[in-house]
Amino acid sequence: AVGVLGMNLRSYIRDIADFPTPGILFRDITPLLSDASALKYAVDRMLELCEPLSSDVIVSVEARGFLLAAPLAYRMGKPLVPVRKQGKLPYKTHRVSYQLEYGTDTLEIHRDGIGEGQRALIVDDLLATGGTVGATAELIRECGAQVAGYAFLIELAELNGRQSLCGEEVVSLITYD
Ligand code: PRP
Ligand code: ADE
Repeated sequence: AVGVLGMNLRSYIRDIADFPTPGILFRDITPLLSDASALKYAVDRMLELCEPLSSDVIVSVEARGFLLAAPLAYRMGKPLVPVRKQGKLPYKTHRVSYQLEYGTDTLEIHRDGIGEGQRALIVDDLLATGGTVGATAELIRECGAQVAGYAFLIELAELNGRQSLCGEEVVSLITYD
């Protein structure tokens, strides 16, 4: 599905009802990942949206966020700092607990991951309530750094995640209303 206007990326997202819990409509990105042209197109378009946000470093959240953040960081020639669920990072960390669309969790970042005053672009596969990236923004600020903006492949607009973030720019490729 490639035309002059590009690719219909939405057709590469598979909807799974009641996963991982009843009532959640899960937006599965694996069909997009398993199509080389769709993956390349998605990363290239995200790159275009991210470039104006002038960042020094990419910060991303496990696990699905890493799949997009790594090729973006590589293409932008910028460093990548991982935010991980509690107990995964080996060195000294900052830590914050947050709410998910389907539960709660704790995230960590290495204390020396980002330098003071640096501008960090947060990349994730999907924006739902904004809990995950909101917590990631807190971790960035605890390091003494600034949030340059947020970039997503998918935005679930009805959950108002965008409104929960602190005013920095939010970009996304595919929006579900
Ligand atoms: C998913 C998704 C986002 C987050 C979005 O991650 O990858 O990070 O939820 O939800 P929110 O905006 O309500 O916080 P999940 O915690 O399921 O982990 P995974 O990437 O390891 O599957
Ligand atoms: N993370 C949070 N909500 C999600 C959803 N509806 N689909 C996929 N990932 C998610």
